[in-house]
Amino acid sequence: MIFLNAAIIKNEAISLLCDGLQDNNYINVSDYTKYAVKRGLRNADGTGVMAGLTKICSVEGYYIDDGEKVPKEGHLFYRGYDINDIVSGCQAENRFGFEEVIWILLFGSLPTADQLERFNTYLAEMRELPDNFTEDMIMKAPSPNIMNKIARGVLALYSYDDNPDDTSIENVLNQSLRLIAQLPSIMAYAYQVKRRHYYHKSMYLHPTKASHHTAEGILNSIRSDKTFTDAEAKLLDICLMLHAEHGGGNNSTFATRVLSSSGTDTYAAIAAGIGALKGPKHGGANHKVAEMLDSFREGCPDITDEGYVADHLRKIMRKEAGDGSGLVYGMGHAVYTLSDPRAVILKEKAKEFAMGTEFENEFRLLEHIENLTPALFTGVTGKSKTMCANVDLYSGLVYKMLRIPEDLYTPLFATARMAGWCAHRIEELYTCNRIIRPAYKSLSSHSEYISLDKRDKNT
Ligand code: COA
Repeated sequence: MIFLNAAIIKNEAISLLCDGLQDNNYINVSDYTKYAVKRGLRNADGTGVMAGLTKICSVEGYYIDDGEKVPKEGHLFYRGYDINDIVSGCQAENRFGFEEVIWILLFGSLPTADQLERFNTYLAEMRELPDNFTEDMIMKAPSPNIMNKIARGVLALYSYDDNPDDTSIENVLNQSLRLIAQLPSIMAYAYQVKRRHYYHKSMYLHPTKASHHTAEGILNSIRSDKTFTDAEAKLLDICLMLHAEHGGGNNSTFATRVLSSSGTDTYAAIAAGIGALKGPKHGGANHKVAEMLDSFREGCPDITDEGYVADHLRKIMRKEAGDGSGLVYGMGHAVYTLSDPRAVILKEKAKEFAMGTEFENEFRLLEHIENLTPALFTGVTGKSKTMCANVDLYSGLVYKMLRIPEDLYTPLFATARMAGWCAHRIEELYTCNRIIRPAYKSLSSHSEYISLDKRDKNT
């Protein structure tokens, strides 16, 4: 009872404090225009403010003609290599490509066959977590969200590093390779702990196998019987390749670069990236797509019927269905306009694996969402925005077909993006040498400080 009363009093106090908080924190959106401040670091046409230079990646979704933003098909280049060519090149040679992508991102060129083989062995040798790390840092204090758990895992690795604060390139590269190699195990074990603690299911911790590529290792660790087909592992490998990097401006990479620019350690900088990626407007959108599909199954009489799907989409945009945000997850992008090349590849793969199976209807539903959303968005909001499916629309279906639990959708994104974050951290440390420190215009007026006994007691 005492606790209950305390909770009620606490809630009332919080509610009162919130009133003041809202009054004192409200900033009119029109003030951004008034003071020429770029909200969200965006220009008026939605393009990003130029915040840095990079040689790692190029994300192309529009061009500027006579000062006007003109939509175009999307292209993604890792160190100048078209992602389509990297993926199709690996497919043509029927080999895994994620490790090659890590090499390209970190070292800037294509590895030779010998370099790639030695790199694979090197990563495999690094996969083992430090002694007692699993018992002390993963098994204890389970988390309902694996993203928080892996961020904590990354921060905890600081304590197992003999030289954690050394920001020399050699040391940061060494730390980066370890993180890239070890995050899949941290993710898989964190999920097992969640399974046991929150789902009351048995937990299995499979040891890593040196002969496995990253994608194989992940399937080995999350399947109770450790079995998977080569086609399944290669499909997951493509997902990892596509999620590995996306330029310096994406939210989590920028966060990693911001922290790196202060000179902080690798673990702190990378944990910030993981925290940013969790957000539903960023990597967390793949999880949100899965939730949105549930809302279609509950609220839409026939998910294969375009008319019913359109009705439900309108409800989502009017905030009458879905999570109430008005967002159609998996749609829209800050750079891409006509197409997101990653979504194009994932859609093709999803179709290949879904047709003629129990997943065909879900594929059809996603296709309807992709086709219908742009026009409906304009109809419902009156805003014109060239909008396409993004990487998160079809990735969840691919993972579902691979029998990967929903809890791991966003952590898998993090596992792949670790390569990009590390490449950008190294570039930031190696070349920029300026703390990222933009300015905020203050809208507060100066106030006179009054001693406690003279303050109005009624406020
Ligand atoms: N569904 C509904 N409305 C959307 C939308 C979507 N998918 N994408 C953008 N909008 C709306 C925004 O809410 C905003 O409305 P407002 O002016 O009333 O605030 C308007 O369109 C412009 O949005 P903006 O945030 O400037 O677009 P953006 O290009 O910067 O946003 C995303 C990019 C990805 C954040 C945005 O498209 C989004 O939230 N998509 C859904 C989440 C998602 O799939 N994220 C994964 C990205 S890979």
